[in-house]
Amino acid sequence: MSKLIDGKEISARVKARVAEEVAGLKAEGISVGLAVVIVGDDPASRIYVNSKKKACALCGIDSYEYALPASTTQEELLALVKKLCADDAVNGILVQLPLPSHLDEGQIIAAIDPKKDVDAFHAVNVGKIMIGDFDFLPCTPAGCMELIDSTGVSVEGKRCVVIGRSNIVGKPMAMLLLHRNGTVTICHSRTKDLAAITREADILVAAVGRPRFVTADMVKEGAVVIDVGMNRLPDGKLCGDVDFEAVREKAGYITPVPGGVGPMTIATLMQNTATAARIQNGR
Ligand code: GUN
Repeated sequence: MSKLIDGKEISARVKARVAEEVAGLKAEGISVGLAVVIVGDDPASRIYVNSKKKACALCGIDSYEYALPASTTQEELLALVKKLCADDAVNGILVQLPLPSHLDEGQIIAAIDPKKDVDAFHAVNVGKIMIGDFDFLPCTPAGCMELIDSTGVSVEGKRCVVIGRSNIVGKPMAMLLLHRNGTVTICHSRTKDLAAITREADILVAAVGRPRFVTADMVKEGAVVIDVGMNRLPDGKLCGDVDFEAVREKAGYITPVPGGVGPMTIATLMQNTATAARIQNGR
């Protein structure tokens, strides 16, 4: 039976550290602000945005919510992003994805000032991550790294397999593991004989977006298994990309869903917002 990696507890520690940092900045007369933009009424996005606002309150970060209707045009959204870039009270800008399909996400992300891009989605920040010289860590991958570190298992020299190649999770996750000297393989929907590859993994990160996709036969005995998935089942329950009950019998360490990666993404966002405020104020 594997050990459970408690993302709730670890994220609480990260947020407490951020709250101290924010209090220190406030003592110097520097406030910390995050603008959160949500377009439309996607229920999952609403839940994420509410959690982000709650975390801001806990850390002493001012949050400014901009909830726009689904009919918002590209020009209107671009105008808001530009206004937020110029607003000194706003240190971080987060545009919740996915955007309604008529909007061009790439153009919106490109309009965010890289210094305020607390998601680290802008090409400048992606490039910085690639070369290993970055101000902001991508939120979900950085959260996964903290969870891996909490096990005491070193990444150095280990076989690391990431399932999923998204710009938000898969690609930056692989890069962070590589920076730690892991031997990294990225798998995706066209990968042949996926199970043979995942069975080699000492560290397995699942970011596929398919419920219970990773089954016990795909996992090496004793592996660290990080489940980024957050899938809604027909009965309304949340479920990860990993078949938790079966895989927990085989893995060394495993994250639950919910209560694993999700809270860590938000904790890293808080850290990035404090970092953005510090850098913008020359600290
Ligand atoms: N949608 C799902 N995850 C994220 C995230 O980390 N940031 C943003 N902006 N949107 C998301």
